Amino acid sequence: MVLQRRVLKRRDYERMGIPATLWSVDANKVPPGALMFLRRYAGRLEELLRRPAGAYFLGPKGVGKTGAAVLLLKYIKEHGFSCLFISVGELRQALRGRVQFDTDTSVWDRAKEVDALVLDELRAADAGEAVLGARDLEDLLEHRYQFRKATFITTRMTVSERLSTFAGLVSKTTGYLVDVPVDGQDQREALKNSLTESLVAESATPPSSSHRPAPVPPNKTRGHY
Ligand SMILES: Nc1ncnc2c1ncn2[C@@H]1O[C@H](COP(=O)(O)OP(=O)(O)OP(=O)(O)O)[C@@H](O)[C@H]1O
Ligand SMILES: [Mg+2]
Repeated sequence: MVLQRRVLKRRDYERMGIPATLWSVDANKVPPGALMFLRRYAGRLEELLRRPAGAYFLGPKGVGKTGAAVLLLKYIKEHGFSCLFISVGELRQALRGRVQFDTDTSVWDRAKEVDALVLDELRAADAGEAVLGARDLEDLLEHRYQFRKATFITTRMTVSERLSTFAGLVSKTTGYLVDVPVDGQDQREALKNSLTESLVAESATPPSSSHRPAPVPPNKTRGHY
């Protein structure tokens, strides 16, 4: 079957839960190793989604793990599959507070049902949580696997940290979640530096002649008014 691709609208992004700052993520900012994974996944989209194959995007802060995961999620959505982006922390809050996704479905049920789920920011501290701790995460992943739903997890944990903290999760997901290392510079830091530079440069530049206050014509002195 040839999948149709459609342009996403604002409502799609909102329904997927993608933060507005990441709506315009682009492939040029995805580090090469992760981009290769995204290309391969996109090339066999339907087969891999249904297998289901997913990934851990691993790397230090700011390198573009979330950006890469969002880019893939957008692509999946563009091809007609249901998608949700949520951080582990937000999902825990939603589960605790029984937050609704819409009138018929809770956020938790939505996270179980969607064709593709990005679980953002898995941390070591999550393992010991009473709600959505290591065991609940295993159950969620297991459920999604059984119903052929693909899951993508971003984390700053190294492979060994993840193994020591989430041994059960790692062993259960070994066959269907692959590790995608994301490396490079801290893009957030680079953005901050370029913004600071441009703002400092702007404030240091003298205003152009068109912005200077108009000189008072010589004959229009106080006494004439
Ligand atoms: N593909 C992309 N296209 C455009 N901007 C991007 C992309 N990836 C990252 N960025 C920019 O870089 C910033 C940091 O990237 P991102 O949030 O993906 O990092 P991260 O590795 O998930 O960091 P953390 O570990 O802190 O969650 C983003 O807020 C965004 O501004
Ligand atoms: Mg992130």
